[in-house]
Amino acid sequence: MAGSLLITRIGELVTNAPADDGAGPGGFAVISDAALVVEDERVAWTGSSARAPAADGVVDAAGRAVLPGFVDSHAHLVFAGDRSAEFAARMAGESYAAGGIRSTVAATRAATDAELRARLHRLAMEMLRQGTTTFECKSGYGLTVDDEARSVALAAEVTPEVTYLGAHVVPPEFDGDPGRYVELVCGPMLEACAPHSRWVDVFCERGAFGADEARAVLAAGQARGLLPRVHANQLGQGPGVTVAVEAGAASADHCTFLSDADVAALASCDTVATLLPGAEFGTRQPYPDARRLLDAGVTVALATDCNPGSSYTSSMPFCVALGVRDMGMTTAEAVWAATAGGARALRRTDVGYLAPGARADLIMLDAPSHAHLAYRPGVPLVRAVWQSGRRAGFGLTAAVG
Ligand code: NIG
Ligand code: FE
Repeated sequence: MAGSLLITRIGELVTNAPADDGAGPGGFAVISDAALVVEDERVAWTGSSARAPAADGVVDAAGRAVLPGFVDSHAHLVFAGDRSAEFAARMAGESYAAGGIRSTVAATRAATDAELRARLHRLAMEMLRQGTTTFECKSGYGLTVDDEARSVALAAEVTPEVTYLGAHVVPPEFDGDPGRYVELVCGPMLEACAPHSRWVDVFCERGAFGADEARAVLAAGQARGLLPRVHANQLGQGPGVTVAVEAGAASADHCTFLSDADVAALASCDTVATLLPGAEFGTRQPYPDARRLLDAGVTVALATDCNPGSSYTSSMPFCVALGVRDMGMTTAEAVWAATAGGARALRRTDVGYLAPGARADLIMLDAPSHAHLAYRPGVPLVRAVWQSGRRAGFGLTAAVG
């Protein structure tokens, strides 16, 4: 659409008003009986419906809620194969182990570029349809120089938030010599992947990589210009959060098993704790304690961890519902974590909020308030999505309002 667009008669506009320094989202905030103007790719105006300026086009929200698009700061979307049998076995009582990753590695290596691309694009569209307008995407199911390089190159087709996760697990051909694999990850594999990547990540966990290996991977990535983030404390207590905080990581992800010292460390720095309740759902583990983190002053994000092993959901509304129902979050905290929190975890100042200057990424719900995302779990409430000011089309062509 050319020109400006006015969305008016919004029952509840979640703005996450801009931070005091004007850079990126601030705290959770709403405007009732609101309107919003989009011009080109940005939000140009927000305020009360009664004072809305004229625009070239008008959408009548008829009392519905409008929110910033979801920011999913943790996803593994470049893979092939299916692990539904592993999921079914877990639901029948088996436990989750990091080693399951290897079966997806085998399937991913065997897949053609076209197969990987088709799955990736389908998942990206699935996310958009559910209101995710920014997402991160990791490699980590290739684990050879060529397979990791093609994974990050494919990821870069769908998002600028590409993460190099060569250190996902030690592949079978390096059994007995994990040190040599870490050298590959820090050397030729990093060289091949860095041009397409913004981030470097490591799975710091028993069965994957230890503290010193994780430190080496992050340091090598940082020396090559990548920004660190860490899979930390997913399956048990361990050094992941310490390593993340030491490295100045943008985010420590999972944070399911935390010591008091971990919580204190996160509270005293700007590393975001990204909670991934889809993984606890899919592995039948206890959920992370968001309340404990929030009460300590930690910045919390919610993300899907979409991957074929532990968490095959692409739904941010599902994660919001779990955050509220099972992790002690208020509806406002969970929606903030899924929008502004994700933006913080990706160090983005242009998304996660709706105020003049923000990117015009927004969703309209078939509901009057953000609370319905948790109040009506499993119901597809996202009625319309605008990304950079453009209405996303995915078959939902009926007029809005
Ligand atoms: O974030 N923790 C490591 N990686 C994924 C699981 C990957 C898999 O099981 O395939 C996660 O949960
Ligand atoms: Fe993950």
